[in-house]
Amino acid sequence: MDISVVGAGHVGLVTGACFADLGNQVVVTDHDKDKIALLKRGKTPFYEPGLEELVRRGIAQKRLRFTTSMKEAVEHGLVIFISVWTPQRPNGEADLTAVENVSRQIAQALRAYRVIVEKSTVPVETGEWVKRTMSLSVRRRVPFDVASNPEFLREGQAVQDFMNPDRIVLGVESKRAKDLLLELYKPLKAPIVVTDVKSAELIKHASNSFLAMKISFINAIAQLCDQVGADITKVAEGMGLDTRIGRAFLDAGVGWGGSCFPKDVWAFIRIADKLGYDFQLLKAVAQVNVQQRQLFVKRIAQILWNLNNKTIGVLGLAFKPNTDDLRSAPSIDIIRMLQEEGAKVRTFDPKAMEQANGLFTDVTFCKDVYEAARGADCLVIVTEWNEFKELDFVRLKKLMRQPCIIDGRNIYDPEALRRLGFRYVGIGRGHPTTYLGLPKGSPSPHGEKSS
Ligand SMILES: NC(=O)c1ccc[n+]([C@@H]2O[C@H](COP(=O)([O-])OP(=O)(O)OC[C@H]3O[C@@H](n4cnc5c(N)ncnc54)[C@H](O)[C@@H]3O)[C@@H](O)[C@H]2O)c1
Repeated sequence: MDISVVGAGHVGLVTGACFADLGNQVVVTDHDKDKIALLKRGKTPFYEPGLEELVRRGIAQKRLRFTTSMKEAVEHGLVIFISVWTPQRPNGEADLTAVENVSRQIAQALRAYRVIVEKSTVPVETGEWVKRTMSLSVRRRVPFDVASNPEFLREGQAVQDFMNPDRIVLGVESKRAKDLLLELYKPLKAPIVVTDVKSAELIKHASNSFLAMKISFINAIAQLCDQVGADITKVAEGMGLDTRIGRAFLDAGVGWGGSCFPKDVWAFIRIADKLGYDFQLLKAVAQVNVQQRQLFVKRIAQILWNLNNKTIGVLGLAFKPNTDDLRSAPSIDIIRMLQEEGAKVRTFDPKAMEQANGLFTDVTFCKDVYEAARGADCLVIVTEWNEFKELDFVRLKKLMRQPCIIDGRNIYDPEALRRLGFRYVGIGRGHPTTYLGLPKGSPSPHGEKSS
């Protein structure tokens, strides 16, 4: 099938490259000329395992093309995916300017029937706005359908997720659009939920918010574990074996971040507000997440007595492993709070160093874990990269000023590290926190604003 994708970002590029690999003819367009020039040379603008190979293969087999011309994209694709950004406004709402602009541009270039598919994450009723915007701009009476096909891929395993989804959600309003999308997705052999556009839009926001809720829930339980000396990893195991609950997303840590959860949770709260529903549950989910970072820094301060002039080695900057994405990463707030308390920060991330340059001031970027540990009063784990799991702890101990590890992702065995002579503190593993007073520079209630 001939398809086009508007927006060559984490979702659009994966969508385009994967559909090309499945045998479709794909045109990907973006307004960023540099990005398109880079992609034409077979290079990807961000790190995502397996994606560059897929892009190169698509180009070599002449199934994948890149252009800055919307006209070319609209002429080519019978199905046109909108996968542009939908960032967070300062008040938490989703900024749909790009979706609106692209809808208008598509309508102006429309000469024959097309299915316009929202793949960007958007608040419920956006499909209606897209349809209305397009109807105002479409030159002749060209027929078109608007559909919703939310994306659930996870950065760091996006290609794998796209090719092997748990489910595909199709929100459609006509048989024609439904049949085309069913045909397009048939090779993936995944369960498909066919519904109306509004329900599809809600499925995406509800799913992300539910997952964020699970993480905030376990983080709240972790605080209790610390106070009473219980072990959150065991509590999560015991809860997770209940098939009604499930073990996934019950890992306590420094909280959720990234390009999706923070903005999607707030966009959901705001659209609910607009619709007259006060989504108090989700507000608490967001609040627990902000608090989790504050309490983490407070804990570091308690362990080191005070932070002024202490050197902290921060391991991991990306919001999660296998990506260089720093959007709303917990590391940003954590480092800022540490610095406001007077600490000096040394850091290393396996992939996100380049992206981090310019985002942080007065931070020493190191070439590896051991350099980050040199002279440090403690090492703080912020991202659970696999390569942090197996370290030469004897060497680390010699390099550090104090043998202390504060593990924001619970990747180590506390007993093993204590045997090696480290002071080890995880999350929810029995280290009580004094709750009075929060660190300077604590994030605002909205906490995570998209970068
Ligand atoms: N990143 C994820 O893991 C993920 C997962 C599921 C859904 N989503 C959703 O998908 C959407 C895109 O996210 P992303 O992470 O790919 O964003 P991104 O920032 O990586 O990419 C967005 C792309 O859209 C392009 N763009 C913006 N305005 C444009 C315009 N007017 N014309 C043409 N191109 C334009 C940008 O240049 C950029 O390349 C968002 O709504 C996001 O919430 C993201």
